[in-house]
Amino acid sequence: MLILGLESSCDDCSASVVEETASGPVLKSLVRRSQDEIHAPFGGVVPELAAREHLLQLRGTIAEALDKAGVGLRDIDRIAVTQGPGLVGSLLCTFSAAKALAWREDIPWVGVHHLLGHLNAARFAKPDLAFPALTLLVSGGHTHLYLSKDWRSLQLLQKTRDDAAGEAFDKAARLLNLGYPGGPPVDTCARKAAQAGPRFTPPKFRDGLASWSFSGLKTAVKLRVQAEPRLAQAGAEDAEVQALCRSLQETIALWLLKPLPALAAEHGARSLIISGGVACNSELRLQAQKVALELGLELAIPEPKLCTDNGAMIASAGAILEPNGDWTLNADSDLKLVAR
Ligand code: KG4
Ligand code: ZN
Repeated sequence: MLILGLESSCDDCSASVVEETASGPVLKSLVRRSQDEIHAPFGGVVPELAAREHLLQLRGTIAEALDKAGVGLRDIDRIAVTQGPGLVGSLLCTFSAAKALAWREDIPWVGVHHLLGHLNAARFAKPDLAFPALTLLVSGGHTHLYLSKDWRSLQLLQKTRDDAAGEAFDKAARLLNLGYPGGPPVDTCARKAAQAGPRFTPPKFRDGLASWSFSGLKTAVKLRVQAEPRLAQAGAEDAEVQALCRSLQETIALWLLKPLPALAAEHGARSLIISGGVACNSELRLQAQKVALELGLELAIPEPKLCTDNGAMIASAGAILEPNGDWTLNADSDLKLVAR
């Protein structure tokens, strides 16, 4: 079965052709058009600009994905498209395009929850993964830990109270003038550091609820920059900036992985899945390997191009769902997960 996967819930416009085989999904093509240059001057995504750009990018992105896979629209057996959550303007562009294509070519289609897509990105590397799994989804919009019973299941265990981990990277990078999105430059900078700077103090929660909080990291970096204003302009080659970036990503990796041993034991987890843009982070990937080894968990982290938002993960999720064929279905910026 050949699936065309479309994803544009935020600022990336992506299309992919994936073949679902007896041994799992096989990537035939993946095209991703970034809008980073458009949003960079604002230090974050401007929703109206993102939607307008998707309208311009969509046709070429889909054509290129089909072309690279060496197939035409008539060869496609199913169209899978992100239904939500995300920016409503961005979602509407691609969701409407997917429905129009499906109608014109009479192709079965399915709307996919964005987070089910991130989960199913891991199916490319480990289609036979053992369940139950702990699934950590970390991106610019989410920092959520789930229990997955299979590739369709995401039962929430804990989440962030405020900023997502990706936001902490993006906001810190903005304060240090390292560019947008912030994760990649902070990661590069941290790897150049001879040593880490001072550790950040973990937040304490009076209510005792299991959760994360990352907004304090932005404040901590802000205070450092206020105390030493030259850091804002020092750039990626500065030793202190590098040390600060290293502390930041070591802290984020440490905090993200901390709840895993207790939850793995409590739920009898056999695997650990980490996906979403922040799963590209070199320190998180390294520390996750250590934790998985210690806990005897099988580890599934997609390759970096499949961790960030992409059409292939939506195709992979769309392959295991039933095509809905409900023409009244529409994009939903606040789409809820159906707990399974
Ligand atoms: O999954 P994604 O592409 O989009 C959302 O659904 O949000 O994730 C984007 C986020 C951004 O915050 C970006 O800074 C972060 O992923 N990111 C990283 C790295 N690469 C991307 N964070 C840390 N280290 C990286 N190497
Ligand atoms: Zn995402």
